[in-house]
Amino acid sequence: MPLVTSTEMFKKAYEGGYSIGAFNVNNMEIIQGITEAAKEENAPLILQVSAGARKYANHTYLMKLIEAALIETDLPICVHLDHGDTFELCKSCIDGGFTSVMIDGSHHSFEDNIKLTREVVEYAHDHGVVVEGELGRLEGVEDDVNVSAEDASYTNPAQVQEFVQRTGVDSLAIAIGTSHGAYKFKPGTKPQLRFDILEEVERLLPGFPIVLHGASSVIPEFVKMINEHGGNMPDAIGVPEDMLRKAASMAVCKINIDSDLRLAMTGTIRKYFDENPSHFDPRQYLKPARAAIKEMVRHKLINVLGCNGKA
Ligand code: G3H
Ligand code: 13P
Ligand code: ZN
Repeated sequence: MPLVTSTEMFKKAYEGGYSIGAFNVNNMEIIQGITEAAKEENAPLILQVSAGARKYANHTYLMKLIEAALIETDLPICVHLDHGDTFELCKSCIDGGFTSVMIDGSHHSFEDNIKLTREVVEYAHDHGVVVEGELGRLEGVEDDVNVSAEDASYTNPAQVQEFVQRTGVDSLAIAIGTSHGAYKFKPGTKPQLRFDILEEVERLLPGFPIVLHGASSVIPEFVKMINEHGGNMPDAIGVPEDMLRKAASMAVCKINIDSDLRLAMTGTIRKYFDENPSHFDPRQYLKPARAAIKEMVRHKLINVLGCNGKA
């Protein structure tokens, strides 16, 4: 099966009250762990590549690895640019075979965000590629950009209809209190999301797919594993799974997960070296790391996203 856009996936997910997992990929083992889980669970997939991932691994290497995953799984897979910040970057990914791009103009003024997003949409749609836009800012770290709590802002529902109409985007990322990275909520406080904003957006844009960034649960088992094997992570708190399930049953059709992949990989490798200090063959420690990613993704597909069996 060739690469697909997310159009069909989102339509079915919206109607079926589930969500598609959008997992960040940076190397072969991560791609294998995710796609092997999806194959076993017959789940549609979005594999997303950040500008940093593209710099780290090279566009062509990542595309060829994803092509290999397509051959091995025969699943509907969409390859997506995560947090594109310029027209040129989006164009380069579209020209290079991506089927979906995000143009993140959320740090611009409303008018400048619309102008930049519209420009990307025109080029993308001319090439059969879909576009995700963003309104509202998430706290946390993406690439070299660090958004502080003061600079983060919830999406204003009063702007969403005009934004979608004037830009022509195919999906919209909104800010309802999630954030990037492993430290999403203050220790000792109860994680809370603004479901009232999501409800209002859903009412104003019926049937329109919404995207949730910063949606790792920061799985405690892996944070514990890191800290038990030489790491030193302070209280790391993610988005509770029941909140993600609730969002998936609403208008959220795409849930972004990166930090949980990083934690699974790092925890497993730390444990491996702690238990096998003399080993130095990368296959020995990457194998359990890949297996941990696979099990973690399987859990998400079944128990969080609900997209198992939907390919
Ligand atoms: O939202 C950000 C993703 O976790 C990608 O992170 O830009 O460090 O690759 P990165
Ligand atoms: P996490 O840091 O919560 O995994 O979020 C990833 C993300 O939103 C990628 O765009
Ligand atoms: Zn993000």
